[in-house]
Amino acid sequence: MFSEIKAPEGDRLLALMQAFRADPNPRKVDLGVGVYMDDSGTVPILSSVKIAEQRLLETETTKTYVGPLGDPTFAAAVQEMLLGASSPLLSSGRTRTIQTPGGSGALRIAADLIHANAPDATIWLSTPTWINHGPIHASAGNRARPYPYFNPADGSLDFDGMMACLDGDARPGDVVLLHACCHNPTGLDLGDDHWRELTALMARKALIPMIDCAYQGFGAGLDADVAGLRHMAEALPEVLIATSYSKNFGLYRERTGALTLIAKTPDHATAATAALGPIVRTSYSMPPSHGAQIVALIWTDPTLRQQWLEELAGMRDRIVGLRHRLRTTLEQHQIGRDFSFLTSQRGMFSYTGFTPDDIQTLRARHAIYIASDGRISIPGVNDRNIGYLCEQIAAVLSADKPR
Ligand SMILES: Cc1ncc(COP(=O)(O)O)c(C=O)c1O
Repeated sequence: MFSEIKAPEGDRLLALMQAFRADPNPRKVDLGVGVYMDDSGTVPILSSVKIAEQRLLETETTKTYVGPLGDPTFAAAVQEMLLGASSPLLSSGRTRTIQTPGGSGALRIAADLIHANAPDATIWLSTPTWINHGPIHASAGNRARPYPYFNPADGSLDFDGMMACLDGDARPGDVVLLHACCHNPTGLDLGDDHWRELTALMARKALIPMIDCAYQGFGAGLDADVAGLRHMAEALPEVLIATSYSKNFGLYRERTGALTLIAKTPDHATAATAALGPIVRTSYSMPPSHGAQIVALIWTDPTLRQQWLEELAGMRDRIVGLRHRLRTTLEQHQIGRDFSFLTSQRGMFSYTGFTPDDIQTLRARHAIYIASDGRISIPGVNDRNIGYLCEQIAAVLSADKPR
């Protein structure tokens, strides 16, 4: 069997990570990897997480399975954080949450649920979107189509294009994949009015949102980042939401996530949740526990929650500060390019619009690693590399022919 296997083309971002690791250049700069790094370039363990882990170590009494759908305390924490503690959805019986291995696990379980129950639905994906969205739906056997989102001509949000496409081409029962906040890779988010208009369109056309929420708290704040999501969740009869705690709790390798579904009636919610059981059972059987226990403990302990909120604000403020510093430092080089996108976009990523040639030159000559689509991960910038980075970017861009 193995002799018949042709190695698939690898994930471009993973290849970039490997190339960065292998590069001996001491000045190398990693703007590719999508993890939060502090000023020293390390991916920190939050203090609130360390304390929660210590407490779990002392109090945990068993390592038995948590059950395919996960821990109800974690599910309640997820719903409060996501939808707001006072949301009527929490007590409606329409909202159910299961624990999954990371946000990716939630996305895949949702994709399998769609495939099993709505095989004719088209999944609409923003252009561009997170590198893994298309492959997840393809491997679940779902049909995906793109909707416009980013306008490459001026780097703006193409909301009119998005609305026209969904209005014209999507059919009732189709699923629209949206990013709750900090859109990956563009950093361009829908505003409140956009969410409202889109919700009205989705209601009119009976479209189902599949909202990917991987960066809650990294944009404008824990509640502010999900204001649009909450509006949509309260207005539409059916919603799917995948959440990840990899970034906002720094739990990357603990594989901590959740899938929340909102159904039209409590009975529908019970049936849909029951349908998730066999999907989970035949994929990974039971979710990992450690990360979910940490999230549940931090959320339910007022002191730990406060400490975590402060740490989350620290990460957010650092990203916002870096965006401003990058913009000003690049502007000081006066190369006649507009860098305002750095401060208008939100979250970990910026979509630079750098050409493939620029990206290749930055990498080959200056050991500056940027994803091939021009996405940069802002936390890779720090006090030690910002001067070098901006100098090299300015030099490479100013050598470009005017476009
Ligand atoms: C938009 C988006 N969704 C989902 C995920 C998945 O996160 P996780 O590591 O929890 O699977 C990521 C991670 O980078 C992401 O950027």
